Amino acid sequence: MSETAEIRVGDQVIELPVVTGTENEKGIDIRKLRDQTGYITFDSGYKNTGATSSAITFLDGEKGILRYRGYPIEQLAEKSTFLEVAYLLIYGELPTQAEFADWSEKITRHTLIHEDMKEFFEAFPRKAHPMGVLASNLISLSTFYPESLDPDREEEKVDLTIKRLIAKISTIAAWSHKNSVGHPVVYPKNKYNYTENFLNMMFSVPTEDYEPDPVVVKALDQLLILHADHEQNCSTSTVRIVGSSRANLYASIAAGVSALWGPLHGGANQAVIEMLENIQADGGGMQKWIDKAKDKNDPFRIMGFGHRVYKNFDPRATIIKKSCDDVLQKLGVQDPILDLAKQLEHVALNDDYFKERNLYPNVDFYSGIIYKAIGIPTEMFTVMFAMGRLPGWIAQWKEMIADKEPIGRPRQIYTGPTERAYKPMSGR
Ligand code: CMC
Repeated sequence: MSETAEIRVGDQVIELPVVTGTENEKGIDIRKLRDQTGYITFDSGYKNTGATSSAITFLDGEKGILRYRGYPIEQLAEKSTFLEVAYLLIYGELPTQAEFADWSEKITRHTLIHEDMKEFFEAFPRKAHPMGVLASNLISLSTFYPESLDPDREEEKVDLTIKRLIAKISTIAAWSHKNSVGHPVVYPKNKYNYTENFLNMMFSVPTEDYEPDPVVVKALDQLLILHADHEQNCSTSTVRIVGSSRANLYASIAAGVSALWGPLHGGANQAVIEMLENIQADGGGMQKWIDKAKDKNDPFRIMGFGHRVYKNFDPRATIIKKSCDDVLQKLGVQDPILDLAKQLEHVALNDDYFKERNLYPNVDFYSGIIYKAIGIPTEMFTVMFAMGRLPGWIAQWKEMIADKEPIGRPRQIYTGPTERAYKPMSGR
């Protein structure tokens, strides 16, 4: 017999079905709750709310497990490439050699962006944050490809949009950087693989030859893999909810980029480096900052620490911490910020406040140090996260459309004034 749960509301007891996932995750299906009782569930921040069922990513926050389509993140980070992982997330299986050759050839062929879009980059102020430039240009793509706006159109059209997005995000990202430093943009080159091409567009200048360093290529590719999906987080849920209105994929992804920007989410990688630089410049020692983070009247938090779902360790942080040491060593970079990060981690992990709340370094604690070592400016860190997360957003959007999910529309508990009569302005 299938499992059920009972809820008592006043004198009424109702029986609700239990849904079970393939990893034995359980949820109480409350879809009939309001119809049967008039009550809704109340869960600000969706801490206990399953908004969907999904076959893409499995995450066990207590055990520190993360798998894409069943494959452990540790194996993917070591053995695969970002484009291979993107294919896995979007189409459900690792590609064969022939499938991969076709996939990467198509992505390579779509990296060029419409020449008219260059004017958008020129029109942005030099100081524009690259996340604003990225989000604006991604939504602009919808104006250049109106034929791919309908998410329910033939699969082929949707598939073309997917390839365009993955291909063009790297060009848009690199150009947003070139714009901020006032350098001419660098066009994509088909001789490079995905990650090499991005690095070339970022770092190539007319005055010097540039060849992407294999150590840097590997490190960046791995970071993109580690960011590629993370089930129902703030930006991914945003993509799904925007897409649920049947808004087009470009619009849904641009909304995801905007959600990612915040410092509590993807923006944390930028915030970590800025925090470490502040601590270094302050010179007042570590304890002062730990105390600030613990003080409820002080808004300061240790950026890159804590996670909504990981309560023991973030498996991505474990991989990144190791590769951070490797990359810095291979590149011969000595960064005092890395020592500071290690000190801060050590002090925090031995402090009762952090221990009691299960606060550990997350993926963003060390990723910024690698980005910094390979020359990516701090303001670009969250853009790197967005590039990595794009295949995950697309996979989640595609699944949501295929499953014909209804439009997302939460309820609320109203706490404002009860009905009152309008009074004209004078003497209100
Ligand atoms: N520094 C100090 N205290 C913290 C921190 C922190 N980084 N994170 C959480 N806490 C405290 C918080 O004050 C609260 O204490 P109390 O129970 O006494 O009120 C307790 O820990 C639980 O925190 P919460 O805010 O209720 O937890 P949450 O699940 O709502 O928030 C989080 C998760 C990631 C937003 C939060 O830990 C945070 O703000 N961390 C810093 C920002 C950050 O690194 N974000 C990147 C997340 S990983 C990348 C991604 O996938 O987005």
